[in-house]
Amino acid sequence: MSMIPDDKINEVRERASILEIVSDYVSLRKSGANYQGICPFHGEKTGSFNVNPARGIFHCFGCGVGGNAISFIMKIEGLSFPEAVKFLAKRVGVTIEERPRTATEKRQSDERELLYKINGQAAAFYRQLLLNDPAGEAGRQYLERRGVDSATSEAYGIGYAPDKWDSLTRHLEQLRVPLDLAEKLGLIKRREGGRHYDAFRNRLLFVIADMHGRPIGFGGRVLDDSLPKYINSPESPIYHKSEVLFGLNLSKYAMREKGNGIIVEGYFDHLALYQAGIRNVVATCGTALTTGHIKLLQRYANKVYTLFDGDSAGRKATLRSMELFLDEKLPASVIELPPGDDPDTFLKTQGDGAFAGHLAKAKPIFEFFFSELLGQYDSGTVEGKVGTIEALTPHLMKIVNPIERDLYIKEISRKLGVDPRQMQKKIGRSPVSSADLAVPRERVKPRSNKGPEETLISLMGKYAGVIKRVRDYGAANLFSADLLPIAEAIMAHNDSEAGIDWALLLEQIDSTEERSRLAGIFMDDDHLDEIDANKAFDQCRMSRDRSMLKDGDVKELKKELSRLDSDSERYWEILRKLDTLRNKKSQLL
Ligand code: UTP
Ligand code: MN
Repeated sequence: MSMIPDDKINEVRERASILEIVSDYVSLRKSGANYQGICPFHGEKTGSFNVNPARGIFHCFGCGVGGNAISFIMKIEGLSFPEAVKFLAKRVGVTIEERPRTATEKRQSDERELLYKINGQAAAFYRQLLLNDPAGEAGRQYLERRGVDSATSEAYGIGYAPDKWDSLTRHLEQLRVPLDLAEKLGLIKRREGGRHYDAFRNRLLFVIADMHGRPIGFGGRVLDDSLPKYINSPESPIYHKSEVLFGLNLSKYAMREKGNGIIVEGYFDHLALYQAGIRNVVATCGTALTTGHIKLLQRYANKVYTLFDGDSAGRKATLRSMELFLDEKLPASVIELPPGDDPDTFLKTQGDGAFAGHLAKAKPIFEFFFSELLGQYDSGTVEGKVGTIEALTPHLMKIVNPIERDLYIKEISRKLGVDPRQMQKKIGRSPVSSADLAVPRERVKPRSNKGPEETLISLMGKYAGVIKRVRDYGAANLFSADLLPIAEAIMAHNDSEAGIDWALLLEQIDSTEERSRLAGIFMDDDHLDEIDANKAFDQCRMSRDRSMLKDGDVKELKKELSRLDSDSERYWEILRKLDTLRNKKSQLL
């Protein structure tokens, strides 16, 4: 149940132009009545993503997502329905005054809100200590030593936790913050049966923010060489490490603009690039890259670069990530740094020009993998060659682009001195054929061979006359369970003066899948322009009836018949049934 009054939701939906909303994220080209662009929700190079401005809906024929402006914002910004409505309301200038919430609603949603607030209070406290307090001197000196300027420090909201056991604890007590919640966030800890104390002491603090900039955790670095180097907030109801990329709030627009993103490992790597004006960067911060991370990246970038330390740990991390990139079909290249450097030291000693050079020389991750293997095995020996090929094969098979795969096979065979045809055989995929070359990876054209029920639904969307015939014939006789509610919704909408409100219609469908499918049906109905709606209705009806009369039904009945006694009631019942089925079929065919 939404806390926002329905008339406000309607106002937002009516005012939000889907074209303008989507254009913030996707560059669109006009194509017929629709607009097309590269889908922001899956990695593609062709423009399968369609917006129909007249109907206020979008649909991607590549990955199948679709809906209205609100569903678009939910998906791309990772928001719930009410959050997306509020987000759009701000954008289109609708003020939403929320009705008072029920006690349960309040309790449920508000622990989270409170947790964000407490993290915000802690961040402000540590920030002010770093900026103005005598106790923050050590932190200020450290930042100066590392060459962090004040604008950068401000952008990250960097703070300092003083070398005391109870600074934050006391501060939160003064603010009357429930300490058990601060404990849930890992800001303070508690000795068994005893008193609370601060978790971060004598550390420089990075605020970990979510993609909307809300503070969800902290990472605290020691000021010297002692260990552990970093202490990080634990998982909490608002912080899930495997789904968070550090710095995404600072980089999402730059990534979208460039179409690619750079992945680094640490807080200071992120900061170093940011300060050098390279903004399309995110950091994994100590956790291994996950599928969740990659899906998040794919919303903003259709290519990524890994930029890890130039040591063996960095190379290992790169190789571990390759598997995920291949699985998620996200093109990735590796920016290599000299051994002993990390992005921070490299930028400081070599400068941005040198960095740009390394970026330009970035190797596709598979090529990087291959050269690592060449270093690992002795490719002069039979054993080494076999070992290399064995190690490569499972990954090579995952490269989806047949041209790319084929080029690697050629390159690898050449370097190892083996017959490329032997390798092809081992990979078990055929070499590039002209058909592979002609067909792009993603489907571009909408499916035109829709089933009869789907065609009938599109006809209802276009012609009021068809709606009337469906009503007369009985929608339940025409549609199966999944499309029936939609047909009914269209009939109901058509009763209103203004005709069908497509964006609203889609919103009333609860299942994301059904909504997406429907947006696909309604995205484009130019092919119905020249059609005689009445004839089409009859054809759809008949073709549906026909598909209902599966031969299987007849077979089943005959089988049963053969087992029955001709005296039984059932025997005659089945004979009558078969007869009607046969009649119906001959009429239809
Ligand atoms: P690094 O040791 O490379 O740290 O670890 P860094 O951020 O580059 O810091 P500087 O430049 O040496 O000062 C990379 C990341 O791994 C996580 C942190 O997120 C860090 O930024 N990490 C590292 C931890 O969580 N705990 C640790 O003890 C060490
Ligand atoms: Mn580092």
